[in-house]
Amino acid sequence: MNYMEIDLDRIDSLGTEPSKEPERQYYFMAKCRDWVKEKEAETGRPLTFITQTFGCQMNAKDSEKLAGILEKIGFKETDTEEADFVIYNTCTVRENANTRVYGRLGYLNSLKKKNPNMMIALCGCMMQEDAVVDKIRKSYRFVDIIFGTHNIFKLAELMYNRLTSKGMIIDIWKDTDQIVEDLPSERKYQFKAGVNIMYGCNNFCSYCIVPYVRGRERSRNPEDIINEIKDLVADGVVEIMLLGQNVNSYGKTLSTTMSFADLLKEIEKIEGLKRIRFMTSHPKDLSDSLIEVMKNSKKICNHLHLPVQSGSSKVLKIMNRKYSKEDYLSLVERIKTAMPGISLTTDIIVGFPGETEEDFLETLDVVKKVRYDSAYTFLYSKRTGTPAANMDNQVEEAVAKERFDRLLKVIQEISSELTKTHEGEVQEILVEEVNEQNNSLLTGRLSNNMLVHFNGTPDMIGSLIKVKLTECKGFYFIGERI
Ligand code: SAH
Ligand code: SF4
Ligand code: F3S
Repeated sequence: MNYMEIDLDRIDSLGTEPSKEPERQYYFMAKCRDWVKEKEAETGRPLTFITQTFGCQMNAKDSEKLAGILEKIGFKETDTEEADFVIYNTCTVRENANTRVYGRLGYLNSLKKKNPNMMIALCGCMMQEDAVVDKIRKSYRFVDIIFGTHNIFKLAELMYNRLTSKGMIIDIWKDTDQIVEDLPSERKYQFKAGVNIMYGCNNFCSYCIVPYVRGRERSRNPEDIINEIKDLVADGVVEIMLLGQNVNSYGKTLSTTMSFADLLKEIEKIEGLKRIRFMTSHPKDLSDSLIEVMKNSKKICNHLHLPVQSGSSKVLKIMNRKYSKEDYLSLVERIKTAMPGISLTTDIIVGFPGETEEDFLETLDVVKKVRYDSAYTFLYSKRTGTPAANMDNQVEEAVAKERFDRLLKVIQEISSELTKTHEGEVQEILVEEVNEQNNSLLTGRLSNNMLVHFNGTPDMIGSLIKVKLTECKGFYFIGERI
């Protein structure tokens, strides 16, 4: 069954609960919907929800699924936390992600005191950590539901459990091999969408908590992925972003052997689909056949996000990245030879345990050699449970901060030089939204992921149009329709 065809009216919400998924969840959606209708009659207004996403695109995609379930149940989406159902979909990749969540929980408590119907749910990566759940159980007793990354499809059932019992509902799975397909999903944009191709991560980079909170790597079946994209295209989507922590190892867990490069070839054939993006690519698994497919594709965007993390082979080894500085540079060389002008972006961690000034200079050297269009830079953050957290040569904060600032300066110089080289060109953009600061401008995205602001009308949103990049403004352009 396709989720677009789910008709909750045809489900007997008074019958016995099915044990099979996703039918079981449709049943609980119908039950929760009865409750929402009751409350609406009582209060004389629609009930509202908001999902707040912290963290990466994987979480953003999960939030769309949560929103889809809540809409099916009958809640209306709102943009304020003064809502009847508030979900925080949390991230724990760096300490400051956690701090932000705790900071906002106090505010939610004050809102809940004013609205007795309000429900607060916490989910996502942070909830996969025992210490976090303990802390919330003890000190944030007003939270209604806690669940993790493996069971977001169960939202309706958990909500129903909360309605029919007293106290906090906590349901965290340590891992799963289950992939539940065909649940509702509410897209943020009509014309572009993220599509999961795999879940979890097996790489265990020594600084990273993701494999512990997202579980083992699992690839989705190619048919499910292709069908989802076809449905999205039929529904108006022209650009998709394929999502996975390491898309280059796609297919390894499937019984039919299909590589990421093969999957891309299949997706390319989907009629009506105009643009394909993907993230994230781990350098160790980027194959020559992927480079070949990218080079020959008419739909894959002219952009590759290729996290390097550090330029020092010594640090890379301790990070467990499984490539050296030389491996990375030679890979970049092959990519640039095949696709001159491709836009490369990266992630870099500064201040990893044991990083010396010499190691840092190697990172600067890679940045200068590769010349990234942009880079996300992070100060190393200690994550409990990861091997790096126990290393005794942690870098002093002031030293890391000083390196971070130096790195940022070099990245920004290169980035603005590269952006400038496109001035005067005519390129295609996908028009995404009305500019927030200036309503007479629209914002579109180039194939290389850079943004262009230009004069236009809202009816252009979702279409691909040609613009002249008249003026470079550092990291974005002012453009003109032609
Ligand atoms: N799977 C992706 C990255 C996911 S996390 C990949 O391998 O590229 C996104 C980024 O957060 C990472 O690339 C890394 O640069 C950063 N990161 C992860 N753990 C971190 C930590 N403990 N401290 C600082 N940055 C971290
Ligand atoms: Fe983390 Fe490494 Fe997995 Fe990326 S590949 S999610 S950095 S462990
Ligand atoms: Fe954060 Fe989880 Fe993504 S820890 S970066 S939201 S996978």
